[in-house]
This record gives sequence, C-alpha cells and structure tokens, in this order.
Amino acid sequence: MNRKKQNVTIVGAGSTRTPALIGSLINFKERFPLRKLTLFDISKDRMELQKDYIRLMMEKYYPEAELIFTDDEDQAYIDVDYVFVQMRVGNFEMRSLDEKIPLKYGLVGQETCGPGGFAYGMRSIAPMVHMVKKIREYSKDAWILNYTNPAAIVAVALDKVFPDDKRILNICDQPYSMLKSFSKILDVEQHDIEPGYFGLNHFGWFTKLYHRPTNEDLMPKLKEYLMKHEFKPYNAEQREASWLETYKNVNKMLSFFPEYLPNTYLQYYFFPDEIAKESNPSFTRADEAKEGREKKVLDICKKAKEQNSLEGLPFLVGEVHGNMMVEVAESIAYDLRKVFIVIVRNEGIITNLPEDAMVECAGELTKDGAVGYPIGKVDTFYEGLLVNQYAYEKLTVESLFESNYQKALQALTLNRTVINPVKAKMVLDDLMEANKEYWYLR
Ligand code: G6P
Ligand code: MN
Repeated sequence: MNRKKQNVTIVGAGSTRTPALIGSLINFKERFPLRKLTLFDISKDRMELQKDYIRLMMEKYYPEAELIFTDDEDQAYIDVDYVFVQMRVGNFEMRSLDEKIPLKYGLVGQETCGPGGFAYGMRSIAPMVHMVKKIREYSKDAWILNYTNPAAIVAVALDKVFPDDKRILNICDQPYSMLKSFSKILDVEQHDIEPGYFGLNHFGWFTKLYHRPTNEDLMPKLKEYLMKHEFKPYNAEQREASWLETYKNVNKMLSFFPEYLPNTYLQYYFFPDEIAKESNPSFTRADEAKEGREKKVLDICKKAKEQNSLEGLPFLVGEVHGNMMVEVAESIAYDLRKVFIVIVRNEGIITNLPEDAMVECAGELTKDGAVGYPIGKVDTFYEGLLVNQYAYEKLTVESLFESNYQKALQALTLNRTVINPVKAKMVLDDLMEANKEYWYLR
C-alpha cells in the first residue's frame, strides 16, 4: 500500500487512553501512515506521565514519523490533516462530581446522561468552540474527529456555531464496541456486519445486523440468544463490575421492548430509579476507572520511564477507542466509504424528528465526510422518546449560549432521568456551584 502520509494531532493527549491509541496508529501504519504525530495537552504534567512509554513505542515501531509533544495550541494546529479530539474538560475530578452530585438527590450519576452529562456538556462546549476556531486559523481543511463527551451535546453546539463546516465529525465508540460483542456472540467477523441503527448519541437502537457473506439479517438470532443468555461485552474478563451490570441491563430492556436492540446507555433513561439506588455515592465509575484503567496504564508508563525501555511491558492497543478512530480517519482519507455508526445533522434522515437534530445512524465515511443512511419515520414510542431527548439537548445548548437559567431548568426537567422540577432545581443549583469556574447561568 502506498498511501499519502498524514499529519495527526491528538488533543487531550494526557488521557490514559492515548498510549493504546498510539498502539492502534502503529498497527495501522500501512493503512493510515503518519508523517507527523503531535500530542497536545494543556497540562504538561499529565502528558509527562505517559511521555516516555509513547516516545519509546514510536522510536521502536514508527521511527520514520516525526513526534512532537506540546502544550502550545498554535503549534498543535499548524499544518495538520486530522485532529483526534478527546479532551476532558475538568478532568477526572469534575467527572467524579458529575457522577456524585446527582446521587445526592436520588438521581442517576453518569458522565454523559442525566444531570452529570448536562454539567459536563456545559463545560465542554466553550473549549470545543475555541478549539475549532483555532484549528481553522491554521488548518482550514483539517478533519476534526471528535470523541469529546457528551458527544450528543457537543455535536448540537458545534453544529449551531459552525453550520457550514463540513469537516467536523462527532463520533462515539459505544455502537462499535457493541458490534464487537455481537460479532463474538454470533461468531462472525465484525467487519462483515452492516448494522441498521437510529437515535441520538447514547440514545439509540440497533434495528438490523446484515451479514454480507450470507445475505442474512442476524438480528433475530442475536435477540433470541439475548432472551436466554446474559449479554456480556466481548472483553468481559477485563471489564469492571459496573460495565458488566450495564450490559445485563440490555437483557432487561429487551424483555420489555423486544422490537429493537437498545444501546446500553438507554438503561439510565429506562431504569433511573433502580440505577440511582444501586449506585454507591462515594464510589462511582470515575473512581472505578481511576483504580482500574488509569492505574494500569500509568504503572506501565512509569516503568517505561524508570527503565527507559519497553522491556517486559505490554504493547497497548485501543481495541475500540483507538482502532475505531484510526479506521474512521482511514475511510475519510482514502475515500473507502466504510460503514460506521455516525452522528450527523438529521435533515430528513428521520422524517419525524426536527431537521436540526444531530442523529446517530449508520452511514458511509467518504472523502466528503459522513453520509447517513435514510431511516424514514420512526414509530410513536421512539418518536416520543427522541423528540423529548432532543428538546433536552437543544435547551441545554441554548441555556449555555444565552446564560439562561430557565432553559437549563426546562432541560433538566425534560430529561427522563430527572422529570421532577423540584429535584431539577436542586441538582442544577448544586452543579452550577461546583462548575462555577466553567459556566454560569442567570
Ligand atoms: C464508551 C462511550 C464513551 C464513554 C466511555 C466511558 O466508550 O461511548 O462515550 O466516554 O464509554 O468509559 P469509561 O471506561 O471511562 O467509563
Ligand atoms: Mn460515547
């Protein structure tokens, strides 16, 4: 393969997902070759923790690529073809509060759904808008591939501010991850499956699993399996307890509504009370991830630094997060028209949803970006849920842009994890105080 080499910048490179993303870039070096890789994070200290492992990996497996670590945004955005965005505004400290504050009021504590997702969205928007403006100053044709959460809210906000920018793609790896798990259960190749999917980000359903080699829709078979067996992620052995519970809730959702296969994130909207009750308010997913993934990755990086070599250390690969990001970039860069589940402006894809909603659906990734497959009209049950959730997303974004407290209160009251305006007000006031360095409403 002799493909044009790309300049890539990772924004939020201090994330502990970065070393594995580097592993993915290395594994894909034939398919998506790099000329220059820039690792950018506003925190030098965070990046420092992983720098040596990354440097050693690149020296060993990718010596031909130029490698830059920087905390200077100008340097990060000059002369770049692809920007992989994975910033977490407020770091794990704020994620922890997003999860813990709602639990005080008996509400779901989650980083992307419910009041926590609301607070996180409000933090993410301004830095994301700033980033896009900066990138466009220096690299007007760069592709901006955004993983920053909550992708649903960020996508609506960016679409409002940059409606004509065709080179911003918001994307989520959860459908990809679920497809990996389906393929394992069905014993087929993930890339032989073409899914049908509709909804909003972290709020959608799989409708079919078309298996290209046999021309068969494997969804009925999968659902039959899941009616009788616990749904386990493909890498269940490496998953922490909360994720295993999350997958089990897909079985539970299916038992009530067997028509389509729900995204795991729908659990928070269908079973908010049970989930809030079962959560430990002093040990949430942020703590679990810190003790699990964070610790594992940082220990490896620390060893790399101490011994100044990779000897005895694992080659980390992002089986979901990393691989998907690189495959997405590859499909755009070389116009491969591969099918992914993407987030795009509705514009008639779901005919009974507002035109400006940012819907999640199956689509092709071409040199001009994502082309979502039309879905048509969704049935009343789904329409009701989706219209309501999109109204929540839209009001959230408007409340930030207008510093409008009333709209924020409306947004949270619409959110199915909240509903009660008394609770909505209490949690909003608490979140606003905790986030005062980031956002404020009148
Ligand atoms: C999935 C979702 C992401 C989310 C992540 C959280 O990949 O698609 O949006 O950020 O899970 O994972 P964590 O292990 O940090 O809880
Ligand atoms: Mn996601």
